[in-house]
Amino acid sequence: MVDPKQPIGVFDSGVGGLTVVRALSTVLPSENIVYFGDTARVPYGPKSQHVVREYALQDTDILLQHNVKMIVVACNTVSSVALDVVQKRARLPVFGVILPGAEAAVKATKNKRIGVIGTVGTILSKAYTNAIKQLDKNITVISQPCPLFVPLAEEGWIEHKATELIAREYLFPLVQEKIDTLVLGCTHYPLLKPAIRKVFPETTILIDSGEATALAVRSYLEQNGLKNPSMLKPNLQFFVSDIPHRFSEIGERFLGKKLGKIHRIPVPH
Ligand code: DGL
Repeated sequence: MVDPKQPIGVFDSGVGGLTVVRALSTVLPSENIVYFGDTARVPYGPKSQHVVREYALQDTDILLQHNVKMIVVACNTVSSVALDVVQKRARLPVFGVILPGAEAAVKATKNKRIGVIGTVGTILSKAYTNAIKQLDKNITVISQPCPLFVPLAEEGWIEHKATELIAREYLFPLVQEKIDTLVLGCTHYPLLKPAIRKVFPETTILIDSGEATALAVRSYLEQNGLKNPSMLKPNLQFFVSDIPHRFSEIGERFLGKKLGKIHRIPVPH
């Protein structure tokens, strides 16, 4: 029997998934959460599918040791290429970020032209394109990898001139393609919204896949009587495979508040 008080397990390749924890905590403020960030092996974006699938299994096993009631794969790269292995291993409800992001974008677009940005792995996998096309085959999807956004977000260069310049370089083709909706298909990109916004007309809708996923998780928990009824302050636990320099500072930027104690769990290299 699942106890609604059991935590939601969330994992990511590193610190970026804290934007998804932030979104979950906003719409589900009572939920206990166990987070694992594979900071020793980040980034996953440029790695082969084979390796990402192997890492995803190990990350899943770490969460399973914490008696989680469900798993949220915060990482877009893992959600794109390894959701099936996580589902098979976990035998629990597993939510990736691709389908909720795709559904939100399909709902939002008026001119049926959607842009998708993400890591090289996410874009090469075509996971968003396939999910969007499955929902509506008449939609045109234009994708663009934006690998430099990850270090810029971690560096905190949110409204920096360099970030704006790079954003223009990456995103101008999408402006020319006249997309009216853009999926932020990477855990780091919500932090760069101000710079991304500036490239597009005001009317362009930005879809945060993490936020869309948090809403999908809330509906699932409500419909299945699995929402934590407790009024107590929830327990948020953070585990990482390495505690790099400035981790707390960077993590705080992604989570939007202090992280508290961080525990290290070693992973194979
Ligand atoms: N978390 C990854 C994602 O959302 C970005 C960082 C990485 O490349 O590992 O795709």
